Amino acid sequence: MEKLIINGRKKLCGQIKVQGSKNSTLPIIAGSILCEGEIILHNCPDLTDVTAAVNILKSLGCRVKRENDTLIIDSSYITTSEISDELMREMRSSIVFLGALLARTGEAVLSAPGGCEIGLRPIDLHLKALREMGAEIIEEGGNLCCRANDGIKGIEITLAFPSVGATENVMLAATLAKGRTTLTNAAREPEIKNLADFLNSCGAKIFFAGEGTIIIDGVKRLSGTEFYVISDRIAAATYMACAAVTGGEMDIINFPLNDISPVLPLFNSSGCRIKTEENSLYIKAPEKLVSSGTVRTMPFPGFPTDFQAPAMAMSSVAEGITIFIETIFESRYKHVSQLKRMGANISVEGNVAVVQGVSRLSAANVYAEDLRGGIALVIAALAAEGESNVSGLKHIDRGYEKLEDNLRQAGAEIKREV
Ligand code: EPZ
Repeated sequence: MEKLIINGRKKLCGQIKVQGSKNSTLPIIAGSILCEGEIILHNCPDLTDVTAAVNILKSLGCRVKRENDTLIIDSSYITTSEISDELMREMRSSIVFLGALLARTGEAVLSAPGGCEIGLRPIDLHLKALREMGAEIIEEGGNLCCRANDGIKGIEITLAFPSVGATENVMLAATLAKGRTTLTNAAREPEIKNLADFLNSCGAKIFFAGEGTIIIDGVKRLSGTEFYVISDRIAAATYMACAAVTGGEMDIINFPLNDISPVLPLFNSSGCRIKTEENSLYIKAPEKLVSSGTVRTMPFPGFPTDFQAPAMAMSSVAEGITIFIETIFESRYKHVSQLKRMGANISVEGNVAVVQGVSRLSAANVYAEDLRGGIALVIAALAAEGESNVSGLKHIDRGYEKLEDNLRQAGAEIKREV
């Protein structure tokens, strides 16, 4: 089984350039279905989830090629509205193709994406909104048969929860709808604004994305464009955590500082010294991290759920008690058992995890069960005494590009063994 072999307690120093955002690239790839023309998409990370999304595009008749971190997509000719179950299962967020397919072709047949390691991942908010927009959706045997005979119509919609995926699906469907869509209680994550900026660069009329209420005026068609995907805020924060747990100092470059503002207080209260620029920052870790108190995950601009596991790895070696409250997903503590194998002192009750920092973690053989839990194990292994083996890399490779190269060039003793 493929694994990362990490010999811990090596200070990380140097510079890391942050990859393009996975969670921006994926909905933008889905959005390319709406465009009748060539799309040149820069800063697309080379990740297995991105490859899965590209495979879906190709299965729909789109032409796609990659030149380094640029994807060149031509969706002029969509030859089918059906996405195979196999392709849908490759990536959880494939549901975001539904809105775009319905808007472009008037129909879509796909399997409901299953739950995954972090929870049930229901899609009720997606389906409710699209039905209100005029889609007829039949759920049968785990499949969704959808059609919009009279086209998608613009309406006023309020989401019961500011779901990122549901916000994206509504935006994508509304872009070619008849009339105006007003989406209230929309997600505010930076990836939402990036998707809107992409669609607007193709001729869409989307206003106030990134705020709680988004307005989309439907247009007849979208053209091609050349566009830059934003950088990955969770990857940026992850590399900060790697520096923090190894007593290192690093420059993390090429990402919008505003996007990680929700996690900066955690690093500051942990004793890290941070100097910020507009698109980069310098972080210097203290000899010993201290607890940052309570971490409650919330929709943006609250503390991101995707950084809960990496932050827990940090708090495992911080002086004092850190309390985590995971409010977004119901099963996002799979990494706790593995951190405890490394000597972490963590107890979980429901959606609350209490972490008592220990003086030192010890190396162990650990297994990643999901993407962010997996990277938490890498962070812990960087802090641990001795040689750890981290397996389950298929999860980590979904979200981190050139992980071991980036860490090795900063001084980590890390290698991948196939
Ligand atoms: C996106 O997932 C991200 N994925 C997730 O990142 C991220 O954790 C999440 O947003 C929250 O920020 C991508 O962007 C590809 P949600 P998404 O819909 O859209 C419930 C990572 O590690 N819900 O905002 O699936 C849901 O169960 C991944 O990069 C419903 O109940 O998240 C969850 O409890 C993991 N019904 C909460 O809302 C619905 O119809 C938030 O989900 C939809 C969601």
